[in-house]
Amino acid sequence: MQNIDWGNLPFGYFQTDYNVRCYYRNGQWGEVEVSSSPQISIHMAATCLHYGQEAFEGMKAYRGKDNKVRLFRWDENAKRMQRSADGILMARPPEQLFHEMVSKAVSLNKDYVPPFGHGAALYIRPLLIGTGVQVGVNPAKEYMFLVFVTPVGPYFKEGFNPVSIQIASDFDRAAPQGTGSIKVGGNYAGSLKPTERAKAEGYAAVLFLDAKENKYIDEAGPANFFGIKNNSYITPKSTSILPSITNKSIMQLAEDQGMTVEQRKVPIEELETFEEVGACGTAAIITPIRKITDRKTGKTYEYCKDGKAGPVSTKLYKKLQGIQYGDEPDTHGWVSFVQ
Ligand SMILES: Cc1ncc(COP(=O)(O)O)c(C=O)c1O
Repeated sequence: MQNIDWGNLPFGYFQTDYNVRCYYRNGQWGEVEVSSSPQISIHMAATCLHYGQEAFEGMKAYRGKDNKVRLFRWDENAKRMQRSADGILMARPPEQLFHEMVSKAVSLNKDYVPPFGHGAALYIRPLLIGTGVQVGVNPAKEYMFLVFVTPVGPYFKEGFNPVSIQIASDFDRAAPQGTGSIKVGGNYAGSLKPTERAKAEGYAAVLFLDAKENKYIDEAGPANFFGIKNNSYITPKSTSILPSITNKSIMQLAEDQGMTVEQRKVPIEELETFEEVGACGTAAIITPIRKITDRKTGKTYEYCKDGKAGPVSTKLYKKLQGIQYGDEPDTHGWVSFVQ
């Protein structure tokens, strides 16, 4: 194994030793297979290549001070993958198969789970693709479910330092009655162009608005959005955003510490009133936001005026990471171990 600079890992692909695969054929899932090749071989008419029959998940394994390796709410990822499969008519991997394959992929690559103390983790990428052949627009009859892992640092290079993001009202991420609430590749393809433009203009991500009225906040690139004011944690409710497992967990933690939690429409104008705002997700963890600029109007909203994350975001971040790495008691039963 190569020497890895654990403290400076990007959020990117890093080859590990094994991945785990399972095939759905003749109406059933087969045996779990282990591969040491990063390549897959599929038919050129596979539906994942033409009609977007592709869904994925993103989760992490965390190594604690005690050297134990923890998964965080894997069952929520398994359920979300099933919803994604249902949403685009793919075969759903059973929860137990999901758990077996995720655990196996982590366990076989245990040396790549970053040591405690670097803010790094082993990112787990379950992937479900239509491999069956179709030329007309139809769902496949065969699927491949694969899990690979890769050690990562924080998604935004700023880590827990505040980032700037851009409202891009000339692009929609997903349609209100479309596939925005499931984790399918097409949603991400649609976000590439505005995101690359935002990066070129100096922003870390795009803040998407609701596609119907362009009035309400949807989500922040590959993360949910939240705002904090008057001891309330406020996060958008929308049919076109991905229900984030991190956000769901933070809502619980906010409630545990006596905050009011509001999941509702968040109009753009409300940005003026927040004391703190941030993005949250498995990859982003909690990323504080220091500036939001509306590209169309030029209007700018500023937070973290001292250059640091706000006190509420900091407290929630510490609590969440504390549970994930095993420093805080797991009072909600969110953590399980990989042997
Ligand atoms: C579009 C989008 N929103 C939100 C999230 C955050 O979700 P989670 O906290 O489950 O990782 C992700 C990442 O999975 C995402 O891709």
